[in-house]
Amino acid sequence: MPLPSDTNKAAPLRPFVLGIETSCDETAAAIVSADKQILAHRVLSQIEAHSPYGGVVPEIAARQHITNLDHLLRDVLIESGMSLGELDAVAATTGPGLVGGLMVGVMTAKAAARAADKPFVAVNHLEGHALTARLTEDISFPYLLLLVSGGHCQLLAVHGVGNYERLGSTIDDAVGEAFDKTAKLLGLEYPGGPSVEKAALSGDENRFAFPKPLFNKPGCDFSFSGLKTAVRRTAEACAEKDGALSHADRADICASFQKTVAECLVNRLKNATKIFRAKVGEGSLPLVVAGGVAANAYLRDKLKAAAAEAGFSFHAPPIALCTDNGAMIAWAGLERFSADPSINDYTMAPRARWPLDADAAPLVGKGKKGAKA
Ligand code: KG4
Ligand code: ZN
Repeated sequence: MPLPSDTNKAAPLRPFVLGIETSCDETAAAIVSADKQILAHRVLSQIEAHSPYGGVVPEIAARQHITNLDHLLRDVLIESGMSLGELDAVAATTGPGLVGGLMVGVMTAKAAARAADKPFVAVNHLEGHALTARLTEDISFPYLLLLVSGGHCQLLAVHGVGNYERLGSTIDDAVGEAFDKTAKLLGLEYPGGPSVEKAALSGDENRFAFPKPLFNKPGCDFSFSGLKTAVRRTAEACAEKDGALSHADRADICASFQKTVAECLVNRLKNATKIFRAKVGEGSLPLVVAGGVAANAYLRDKLKAAAAEAGFSFHAPPIALCTDNGAMIAWAGLERFSADPSINDYTMAPRARWPLDADAAPLVGKGKKGAKA
């Protein structure tokens, strides 16, 4: 992965774009160049601040971003050896996300852009995840994207920058949310995804049969809330039988949960590969998996095998660029700036909800099948 610590000696090519990410519980910034070099890269996790609460507390997150962002920006500029004036654009996550944190990142980015007389690029966080694989590999459009994060679970046809066609999405919980809730109810450490993955390593994935809503149904939608409820009931039953949840019970539940998630993702992916192929044609097509949950090695393996079976090449960013980071925002900003060098989103305000495929977003009731999906 072209992180700045790597000794890539070629002089970077313009444009150079600074990206800022503050939509959830990571304060992050990075500078990238047109030839895909990451010239500086910092991520400050807020895990310690939120872990006593077992989840992200929006007010605490916003305060931490305020406290840390200025220093982080200074560090990123020092690391890149650049001044603000040498950048070509400043990008920041402008949504979707926790609005307090978004305001901190967007205001800081706009101030930096204005001070240096550079354009500000408003980046959709989901577009940051969607395009990261083009920073780390040479992947051309169109590609099939499985976006799996703490707030989202979608299958999309990516036709180009800003051109996304949603094939399916969760009708209730996001997949990362299911990991986080499972971890919390099993008493595992926050953040839940890595804890569940670690506990699952020593577990028996065949001990519990959890429900797989929408399995083998047509279409590409997902559902995870029933799975979460089944995990809770199973944990309660184990605890009742043995007096307390044992280490082995916990590991077996995690392994069985993870296996079920993998089966659900693969099942929906199978339908999506057929739909995508019908849209864009035959031959080897790319599947990109992105978002925090794509950091899970077990799921990556299963998805890779499913991709191969469907005749797709498999691409996932390196682990450090799956979870939220500044490079993905800088890169999406760079792609937008390159497509339209006169871009300037200075008047755009942060938005808690911002679907990638805004025009096509079906608003069904109040669930996540609406704008949040
Ligand atoms: O993309 P991300 O950093 O933030 C959002 O945009 O939501 O994703 C965070 C989510 C969390 O739910 C976290 O538990 C999950 O990604 N996650 C994982 C793993 N690492 C992070 N889920 C499963 N296995 C992992 N190794
Ligand atoms: Zn994210």
